[in-house]
Amino acid sequence: MIQDTAREQPVPVGGGTELFHVIDPRVFERRLLDELCDLTTRVRTIAKSNAGARFLQDLLPNCRAMFFFTQPSTRTFLSFNNACHVLGIRTNEIRDPSTSSEVKGESFEDSIRTFSSYVDVIIMRTREPGRAAQAARLMDTIARPVPVINAGSGSDQHPTQALLDIYTLDRSFSERGGIDGKVIGMMGDLKRGRTVRSLCYLMKNYPDVRLVFIAPEQFAMQNDVKGHLKEYGIPFTETEQLGKVLPELDALYVTRMQSEWDNAGESRAVDFKRFSVGTKELGLLKPDGIIMHPLPRGPELDPAVDTDPRAMYWRQERNGMWMRAAVLLKIFRLESRIRYLDLEAFAAQDGDNPLVS
Ligand code: NCD
Repeated sequence: MIQDTAREQPVPVGGGTELFHVIDPRVFERRLLDELCDLTTRVRTIAKSNAGARFLQDLLPNCRAMFFFTQPSTRTFLSFNNACHVLGIRTNEIRDPSTSSEVKGESFEDSIRTFSSYVDVIIMRTREPGRAAQAARLMDTIARPVPVINAGSGSDQHPTQALLDIYTLDRSFSERGGIDGKVIGMMGDLKRGRTVRSLCYLMKNYPDVRLVFIAPEQFAMQNDVKGHLKEYGIPFTETEQLGKVLPELDALYVTRMQSEWDNAGESRAVDFKRFSVGTKELGLLKPDGIIMHPLPRGPELDPAVDTDPRAMYWRQERNGMWMRAAVLLKIFRLESRIRYLDLEAFAAQDGDNPLVS
């Protein structure tokens, strides 16, 4: 059982739309989200030409990032790593704690402080909740603080995933009035899935959104998130029957069973088929509805869905790299270098970058 006391407390992002630490999605306001989405599209567009790619590479050539990932990761690690490389940031990593001085008994605080001696940003993922917030608080007490980015804190939060999810929703609904007023379903292990927990915290920024939670009772969305939704007047309903609610959804965000958190194989007791999407379910989805998934997938998402134009998860995955580049640009206050650029000018200079689409 996850204790609410172990959940992270908000760490302020600073005044206005500035960004320093990225720890808790609750601190993100609409202005900043819109700015990040716009910046993401700009970076993605600029990178499409060779001249644009070179311009991006020159933005942060003297910047170094530390990846402290002691919990498994494929997408978040690779997308952040490549976002850094897109911007010219050099990267260091510790992914196996047995190779760090932790084995000599060095404290967590001393390890973080040591990383900060060599790099300009710390990007971290841990099995325990609250560690990134702890690192950020430590940074705020030292003379040379560096920003800390939470790339996944236990089963609690995953703020940059929520940002890329917002970007994916915003992009998908760009011709239908954006995210405002949409009906968004979240399905699967909502109790222990940090991506949906973080995404819920961003919903207060989008008027008239309605949420539909589709989960087995024992893995229902937790009270801390539901309390937050009630506080901000965001309507939500809960059901175990996907078929009944699917036709009304604009987006269905599918998640896997987070069985790595099982104490006694409790996720094995769940009938997955009731919380999965295949071609049969696609028949019930609106023609312009979308399917999202943070990946990796399990049996809850049939690969046969991949070829349907409403399957948005591969694009969602790729959006992650661009959104994370935008987050880094915002942290290092380079957004104005991008905001006023003539995006067409790069493409005109020397053609497309064949590596980017
Ligand atoms: C998610 C995570 O790590 O929380 N993956 C990701 O970052 N894209 C989702 C998951 O593992 O189920």
